[in-house]
Amino acid sequence: MEKPNKDLFEKIVKIAQNRGFVFNASSIYGGLRSSYDYGPLGALLKENISQLWWKALKTSEVKIYPVDTAIIQSTDVWKASGHLSEFSDPMVECKNCNSRFRSDSNFENVCCDQQELTDPKNFNLMFETNIGPVVNENSQVFLRPETAQGIFVNFENVLRTMRAKLPFGIANIGKSFRNEITPGQFIFRTREFEQMEIEFFCIEEDSEEWMDYWTNKRLNWYKGLGLKEEYLRLRPHEPDELAHYAKSTVDIEYLYPWGWGELEGIADRGNYDLKAHQEKSGKDLTYFDSKDNTKHLPSVIEPAGGLTRTLFAVLLSTYEEEKLENGDIRTLFKMNFEIAPIQIAILPLSKKDDLINICNEIDTILSSQYRTEIDVTQSIGKRYRRQDEIGTPNCITVDFETLDDRCVTIRNRDTMKQERIQISKLVEYFQN
Ligand code: GAP
Repeated sequence: MEKPNKDLFEKIVKIAQNRGFVFNASSIYGGLRSSYDYGPLGALLKENISQLWWKALKTSEVKIYPVDTAIIQSTDVWKASGHLSEFSDPMVECKNCNSRFRSDSNFENVCCDQQELTDPKNFNLMFETNIGPVVNENSQVFLRPETAQGIFVNFENVLRTMRAKLPFGIANIGKSFRNEITPGQFIFRTREFEQMEIEFFCIEEDSEEWMDYWTNKRLNWYKGLGLKEEYLRLRPHEPDELAHYAKSTVDIEYLYPWGWGELEGIADRGNYDLKAHQEKSGKDLTYFDSKDNTKHLPSVIEPAGGLTRTLFAVLLSTYEEEKLENGDIRTLFKMNFEIAPIQIAILPLSKKDDLINICNEIDTILSSQYRTEIDVTQSIGKRYRRQDEIGTPNCITVDFETLDDRCVTIRNRDTMKQERIQISKLVEYFQN
């Protein structure tokens, strides 16, 4: 297997920043450590990945209901879920320079010459804030550390309003916040990130089968996204790693430049969460099974993935360098047509009005179905290089002959092959 190369990390971070995928947050003020903004191409890529996630759920053979829940929930939610008491990492602090580290980190904790670390103590990862103008105990709230609890607290609402029947899932996507002690590795571990989570409710006897179903389905989804298969693996949790409520957990991992890292965790959580919310809220969260007139709390399989982490894996996995005949190195992202931020770039050979007008005409034809961009700046060679480096699968070049024959050149990103076709055939060409 190809070894992941450390330089790759630096290259991707540089391209991501230079080409408009990811910027350091607050960069004009010197940046905020481990906080990132997604630029025009990164925002598009993120949106495209999230749309594919929804598409896979909407077209799946099992029923999945979407929800979009609040970031700030009642503090009771986090009390019941255990986040308030248990969502913490072990932290050590240097008595000399006050640097803080996770004591269970895989990386060496080095801060200063006179490093002297305290014993580990637990540090709660939830961000705290207040609602309303009066700051007191009752106004204290937390930013959600996961999207999952928004699903559990809406289980009864969805069941009732959608007349849902087991087995079914509820899916939620959006920002989560964790005051990570040691964020890092670019957008791999940040304090503000996006999750895509599903809670799949079923009867307990079927939970193992559904665990296999979701593990395969989610792994195949990552492959379909264009992640290299040999860079993906399933890692079942050892019994001593399992959360106390989880019967089993399998991580889908990606081989990042520094080693294997989690993309998604798939856990059999039993009825732990519904039970905890039922007890705390006093609301009946059972499911009524009309087949045998019984009420019970369903079991839950939870595929919990990271959208921003997946985006990083897409950049790493689709990046390639090719040596050209003239000795130059061509860098490109071989992203799938479906997720490429720009799908078709339209390039006039010169800035002459006649050519620009034809580019606008082509853009009008294609932009209702595809993400297009008219790119006029710099030489045609440099524009091809830029489009390769932002992952654009196709470039259409409009040249002076186009004025006579109404034909354009289509260049394929991966093969660099060019073919000439009539403007009137473009729609048909891309449909095929
Ligand atoms: N509800 C279960 C849950 O939240 P998790 O393993 O803590 O499980 C799920 O998170 C996914 O969210 C992870 O597999 C990862 O992709 C992503 N994730 C978690 N913490 C993250 C962070 N600090 N930065 C970026 N992504 C993160």
